[in-house]
Amino acid sequence: MRLPHILILLFLSVVLFACDTKQGDIKDREISIIPKPQQMKLHDGSFKLIEKNSYYVHPDFHLAGDFLKIFFEDGSNFTLNELPENLATIRITKQDSLAPDAYVLQINHGIILIEAKNSAGAFYGVQTLRQLLPVAFETSDGYKESTITLPLLSIYDAPRFSYRGMHLDVGRHFFPKEFIKKYITAMALLKMNYFHWHLTEDQGWRIEIKKYPKLTTHAAYRNETLIGHYNETPQQFDAKRYGGFYTQEDIKEIVAFAAQHNITVIPEIEMPGHAQAAISAYPELGCTGEPVPVATKWGVFENIYCPNQKTFAFLKDVLNEVIDLFPGEYIHIGGDEAPKTQWRKCRHCQELIADLNLKDEHGLQSYFIKEMEVFINGKGKKIIGWDEILEGGLAPNATVMSWRGTQGGIDAAKEHHDVIMTPTSHAYFDYYQADYPDEPLAIGGFLPLKKVYGFNPIPAELNDEEARYILGAQGNVWTEYMKTEDKVEYMVFPRIVAMSEVVWSGATKNLEMDYSNFLFRLEPFLSRLEALNINYANHLYEIEGAVVKKNKQVFFELTTPMPGKEIRYSNNGFEEKKYEDLILIDKNTTINATVFSNGEKAGRTYSETIQFHKGLLGKIELNVPPHKAYSAGGKEALINGIHGSDSRYGDKEWLGFWGDDVEVTINFEEEIEIDMVSLRFYNANGQWIYAPEQVSVKTKPISGKSVSSMRELLAEEGESHVKISLPFDGIKTKRLTISIPNYGTIPEGQQGAGNKAWTFIDEIVIE
Ligand code: ACM
Ligand code: ZN
Repeated sequence: MRLPHILILLFLSVVLFACDTKQGDIKDREISIIPKPQQMKLHDGSFKLIEKNSYYVHPDFHLAGDFLKIFFEDGSNFTLNELPENLATIRITKQDSLAPDAYVLQINHGIILIEAKNSAGAFYGVQTLRQLLPVAFETSDGYKESTITLPLLSIYDAPRFSYRGMHLDVGRHFFPKEFIKKYITAMALLKMNYFHWHLTEDQGWRIEIKKYPKLTTHAAYRNETLIGHYNETPQQFDAKRYGGFYTQEDIKEIVAFAAQHNITVIPEIEMPGHAQAAISAYPELGCTGEPVPVATKWGVFENIYCPNQKTFAFLKDVLNEVIDLFPGEYIHIGGDEAPKTQWRKCRHCQELIADLNLKDEHGLQSYFIKEMEVFINGKGKKIIGWDEILEGGLAPNATVMSWRGTQGGIDAAKEHHDVIMTPTSHAYFDYYQADYPDEPLAIGGFLPLKKVYGFNPIPAELNDEEARYILGAQGNVWTEYMKTEDKVEYMVFPRIVAMSEVVWSGATKNLEMDYSNFLFRLEPFLSRLEALNINYANHLYEIEGAVVKKNKQVFFELTTPMPGKEIRYSNNGFEEKKYEDLILIDKNTTINATVFSNGEKAGRTYSETIQFHKGLLGKIELNVPPHKAYSAGGKEALINGIHGSDSRYGDKEWLGFWGDDVEVTINFEEEIEIDMVSLRFYNANGQWIYAPEQVSVKTKPISGKSVSSMRELLAEEGESHVKISLPFDGIKTKRLTISIPNYGTIPEGQQGAGNKAWTFIDEIVIE
């Protein structure tokens, strides 16, 4: 049925009118509140603030009031003067019926009202109001106009998770006090509330401890630093002494600054592993007593604390000073990556295991952590540890930080322990975020913005009762490959923005829809980050490509994260044209493409090569699914003509399997003739990834007996991937089976020793 014209006109004019009145002059800076409030309703009309303003702040909410006054007056010619509640324009008031940390923000004609039950809630309300003010308020130049138009609205908002954290490793690289403050300021904008400060490492001890001066005169400095990636051979060093530390006065200043931003600082003092710098200063803390240098390259080191009386006395002294500096309830004691090699050889350690009737060295680590927990609990604080503290038995009151995936968190929650989720797959901001060859050096992995956005801190394995133990999540920032502040910001932003929405607004139930809404809010939000002088990464105008198979044909599809942008592309170097429809692939093809915004090139040029081989039209089956953290491309990625990155196993072309023997079956509707089957495996032993030791391919010809081809592989150390090609003599078949046994347990002396190895597979090329 067609609508009569008059009705269409009427309908259009209502929509236009509504847009107009709702947004007024606001349309230049669309409403883009991040993290997204739980409920927001825009009302018709707007409210103009003028330069002279008044405010009222409930006496319990001075944190929110002080922040607002400074933000307002430093960022513009606008002033805020205190008036009684019933006379003030901006009112920050107490509302006991709200949930803790929740707030209500209402902008009405003439009155801006923020209500909260507690100080945190009032602070969050102010952060939302801040995001409704012009971006110029954030700059040193400030806002120059004499009025601000605000939309009339009502917001009800509350955090989904009580723990919303960011971590920063200052051990691998040291960042000065001013940068730590900048980091905290950005966290506050995003309503995050815990800063996990990783203060001690093999490569440097960063916190002044008065009783042990050599921790800062000696352990805070290393003689040189690895250049380039750990996996490069030969490893090279810069021959420059490097280091730094925070004095106790610095620490107090930062803790107080964080408190003004409603952020609790959690210090991490690592034990028993990642302790080589401390042992370098005080060799008696180690099992061998031998001098060791402060580490100069990355990784996991065997010099860990010996659980002897000197060590416990040392750690208790250190913690006494630490506890006095950090008023928050948590002390993070590390607990990760502590190789037991020295404990196995140490007479004292072995006697202790026997005397205490412990099962093994894991039992000894558990004893170590429990001793420290008793001490820390005795001071009225709680411990957090990485998920290795589950091994050998959890300390009774410990909170677990799940990083090697989510299993540690699941196990801990089932034991009714609090959990903070930081799995490498979704929370490691030291991983690559874009699949472009000129992306700056990172440790490895692949964690694009959308994957962070799609994170659900509550694993499906938990029931509602168990899920309550998941306090929240945190982005981790390990700085091996981040020497500068700019680089840290580049790696953190905008992934922190996505994480803030996960932990505040809650996990998305409809990724495609919510993510595109998020991007529409992120695009204007980037100008706020720019105003804050943050060196964020911008991948919004980059292109993603995907192979699409339809009607026994292969096509290539181009998309951008930001919908509605124009894409121009060229095919095998031919003339550039506008992308309008799927591109047919019927030979080896290289596509180059760029996004255009208002006629200008925006973002980097995308390039992809599709190898048109016989496998593309097969149907693939796997005996086990890839690990969910490394399955982005699905099984189809193995026969889509696209090779994985040479340097990033986390892209969507590599599939990762953890400990499984993999069997791949490819069936064809029509008979094909095979001359060669080629496979490629990732091999990054520092990251627990091992090429298999052998591979076999079997086919059943149309007539006659099965034929198979097998190869043993010898991965050269330092080689990032291993490729093999297995010949077949033009066999005609409709079916192919490939067996890829897992490497097995990671050997002693290697990183991750004792854990199952990962297998990473990319394209299976059939020629
Ligand atoms: C960790 O990434 N080693 C906790
Ligand atoms: Zn020992």
